[in-house]
Amino acid sequence: MTMDAEFYSRVAERFGGYFSDARSTDVFPDGRPDTAFDELATALGTPHARLLDVGCADGRSLLRVAPAYGAVTGMDLSPSMLECAERYRAEAGLSHVTFSLCDAADTGLPDGYADVVTSRRGPLIVREIERVLRPGGVVMYMGIGEQDARELKETFGRGQDFDSWKGTPLSERIAQELSDEGFVVTRNQAFRFEEFYHSPEDLDTFLHQVPIVDNYDSAADKEAFDRYVAAVSVEQGVRLSRHWFIVRAQKPAAVEPSPS
Ligand SMILES: C[S@@+](CC[C@H](N)C(=O)[O-])C[C@H]1O[C@@H](n2cnc3c(N)ncnc32)[C@H](O)[C@@H]1O
Repeated sequence: MTMDAEFYSRVAERFGGYFSDARSTDVFPDGRPDTAFDELATALGTPHARLLDVGCADGRSLLRVAPAYGAVTGMDLSPSMLECAERYRAEAGLSHVTFSLCDAADTGLPDGYADVVTSRRGPLIVREIERVLRPGGVVMYMGIGEQDARELKETFGRGQDFDSWKGTPLSERIAQELSDEGFVVTRNQAFRFEEFYHSPEDLDTFLHQVPIVDNYDSAADKEAFDRYVAAVSVEQGVRLSRHWFIVRAQKPAAVEPSPS
């Protein structure tokens, strides 16, 4: 297992999946990114379409859109996350969904297998996605933007994609990577939103569940944590400013050779 998968396995074992019980009130001026992603992914589904989701974690996001498709595969590198996913799948009674312990870099699926590939804050291995999508197929990616939790990371002096706010926006880098591989980018949408944690303990729980601050340790990081809480606490709670984005792109359809 990679370090990443080990982290997510610990989260699954501690919280029973990818979501913790940290309490927060969230404010979405640009709409909810997960809802937008669900709507876009559902709209691409048909009873015969095949969906591949890479980095599916506990599968709950995937199971929301699965009914729109004929066959659905979720892949992840964390066995503990996939155990949770299989439990949620059985509860939902969705027999056309399968989960597989597999690296998104080498899915083992045939060329042109999938109509749609999705990744929500999971891996984006563009070359493998291009191979596994049929001509005309669509990839949708939900990523974490360069401004995500920036004030928190600056207070800690470390964090996921630290300093990325100084360079080209991450969504533009992804869009460029997809274009370079021959995709046509059809959407690039930013979502800024605020989470207000009901108490410092709730924020502390949340930081154990996500890789925003690498190797977050309540005791070792107490000084930075307290400084952050003092700086951002308002009436609604302890503020965490988020920045996510959705990029969608299409693999060009095969061009029929013209009869000569
Ligand atoms: C942020 S979580 C994804 C959350 C999930 N997509 C959702 O919407 O709830 C990232 C997941 O990607 C998985 N992952 C990371 N690298 C991977 C890879 N190369 N292949 C497959 N899964 C990977 C991790 O194990 C983790 O479960």
